[in-house]
Amino acid sequence: MKIVRIFVTAFLLFIVVAAKADEGMWLPQLLSKLNEDRMKSLGMKISAKDIYDINSGSLKDAIVSFGGFCTGSVISSTGLILTNHHCGFGAIQNHSTLQNNYIRDGFWAKTYSEEIANKGLFATFIKRIDDVSNLILKGVTANMSEAERQSVIDKNIAEVRKNAIKKPTEENFIRGFFEANQYYLFTTETFNDVRLVGAPPSAIGNFGKDTDNWVWPRHTGDFSLFRIYANKENMPANYSPENVPYKAPKPVTISLKGIKENDFTMVYGFPGRTNEYLYSDAVRQIVELSDPVKINIRTSALQVIDGFMRKDELIKIQYAAKYANIANAWKKWQGEVLGLTKTNAVNKKLLYETEFQKRVNANTGLKEKYGSILNDLKTAYNEIEPYSLARDYYGEIINRIELLSLSANLNTLITSYTKDGVQGYEKRLPIVLDYLNKFYKEYNSTVDKKLFEVVMPYYINQQSDFVFDSISHEFLLNDKSAENLASKYYKSMIIDSAATLNLLKQNAVEVITTLQSDVALKLFTGIQSKYQTNVQEKLNPIQAKINVLQRTYMQAQMEVMKDKTFYPDANSTLRLTYGKVKGYYPRDGVYYQYSTWLDGVMEKYKPGDYEFDVPEKLRDLYAKKDYGIYGVNGKMPVCFIATNHTTGGNSGSPVFDAYGRLIGLNFDRVWEGTMSDINYDASICRNIQVDIRYVLFIIDKFAGAKNIIKELNLVKK
Ligand code: ARG
Ligand code: GLU
Repeated sequence: MKIVRIFVTAFLLFIVVAAKADEGMWLPQLLSKLNEDRMKSLGMKISAKDIYDINSGSLKDAIVSFGGFCTGSVISSTGLILTNHHCGFGAIQNHSTLQNNYIRDGFWAKTYSEEIANKGLFATFIKRIDDVSNLILKGVTANMSEAERQSVIDKNIAEVRKNAIKKPTEENFIRGFFEANQYYLFTTETFNDVRLVGAPPSAIGNFGKDTDNWVWPRHTGDFSLFRIYANKENMPANYSPENVPYKAPKPVTISLKGIKENDFTMVYGFPGRTNEYLYSDAVRQIVELSDPVKINIRTSALQVIDGFMRKDELIKIQYAAKYANIANAWKKWQGEVLGLTKTNAVNKKLLYETEFQKRVNANTGLKEKYGSILNDLKTAYNEIEPYSLARDYYGEIINRIELLSLSANLNTLITSYTKDGVQGYEKRLPIVLDYLNKFYKEYNSTVDKKLFEVVMPYYINQQSDFVFDSISHEFLLNDKSAENLASKYYKSMIIDSAATLNLLKQNAVEVITTLQSDVALKLFTGIQSKYQTNVQEKLNPIQAKINVLQRTYMQAQMEVMKDKTFYPDANSTLRLTYGKVKGYYPRDGVYYQYSTWLDGVMEKYKPGDYEFDVPEKLRDLYAKKDYGIYGVNGKMPVCFIATNHTTGGNSGSPVFDAYGRLIGLNFDRVWEGTMSDINYDASICRNIQVDIRYVLFIIDKFAGAKNIIKELNLVKK
């Protein structure tokens, strides 16, 4: 077997002038080549090797992908992980009951034995990253069909993964970068026993809730604590009471020194998805169609859920996580539309494309290769427009109406049975049961029926050619009353957890027959099959064409626009971004300072309010200015902003200072800058982090969790 080595050659093809603006989510193993000088000129005191190294310890060894959807960092030698409250929220909610309400009251384990296991939650370390572009693209030629190309690549990927050297506890995956013009191999190690250690009450961890979400100035202590457990050999192991706290080789050092404007910062984590190199029409469609449609449907859905949550404590627990998720993207899209509109993002793209075309036309070689790319993109995006809009509707309908998501899941039993008989059914059953157990715990059919009533009309009224005929027909027969329509479908047995779970104890044939005749499943399969024939079958080939064009366009941009900085779009792989602590001008005449204080929490305080209540203990500490070693000059810092380029998935990412010491915990972006996924603008794009001193103050002074403080490595200067 051959060791897969780092071959930078493929990358050299694409090397561009070192970063000017501090936009970008950079690959850690390329920092020394591409970014180190710039980082040092911004004030960094450590080297790129201190951030990423595979031979000796580096900051990388403390970074984990938290459950695949957030980031965390290891902050003690006994495996303590720091992440956001909203990242740990699923776990916090899961263990909450009306009696032990950890959402409302917080949770602090005083000993290891009080720490709570979480089924399905994992933490993944990145052991090394290798450029395998040459190996993966071997045998790919320019005149291959897309299918041929993909099959060569798939074969190469399987081969490279198989031959890559790794330890028995390690795994690997390969991901495409720059629209699959480059490929990297990630060697990982995943721990599957991750336990809840601590969380502040929501009134701190999610202070300001949805009103303050995506907004600066912010006053949220958005953190929670978990711990990695390993077997006696300190290796990954499934949950077992025998497991012990993971002995971490390189936990982060925490700085109590604090920050000031223009200080160097970096954020290390797993940004999920960005689209920085889109064609102008793609951006226009997001601004004019896709975002608005999703926003409208969600506005209605959120009103329904919110109404119930405010009235009923149990519904509030059941729907808290769902509500937060739906609302989070809903609000972000609104900020995105505003930002893209205000900064004329589409026009900026058009100007860029004009320049691109001019340069291409001026060079025969380029003209031959890329002369028609923009036109081809235009045609393809025009073609896809109605179908991608229909995809947005479909996604929202199926996911917002829980009866339909539930039907979709149960329907997989039917499809597995149809495909692979009883065997297929039996393989599928435990997965469905898992889903159902979680689903019903958080389900209320009265809430859901109302959701159906407000959401379904969007689908029926606005989607003429793509609507399942019988549902539009029935709608008309019911005098367009969604309520009447709902009454029929909420007679389905599947809204009843006991009945459904009982049914699934019967034999496969009986289950399948019953499910097939259920009204809700019939509705779902009707909507689905209409979608498959009228939307998906048209959409998929156009989407495939766009993927190829986007890949070529990406390559072309890097070849033609030499003066522009290129970094790969986020794809849930480990990245580092850097910048400075900095305020900004959100609009004319207004400047936002870079940090907030506990005084601001008290300014926002509304006794008994759903979003802005403040726990009594915190008010007491404020009144006495009892900030311990964490305050400065009688004030307690809470959050700060910086110019780091982050996105969803960066939640929970550690924020480091010039010396690589932990100074904050990333959790959000500012309203004016949420468009940075598509159009980063250095003047208004800021990430938001909790000041680490506030985190420590809450653990120490508010919760009295000295056991946790004792684990940490704190430095004062
Ligand atoms: N907007 C942040 C993110 O995208 C924070 C979300 C959690 N906070 C909230 N109030 N829902 O995840
Ligand atoms: N809150 C986001 C998350 O969950 C991070 C903020 C952002 O999107 O930048 O990852």
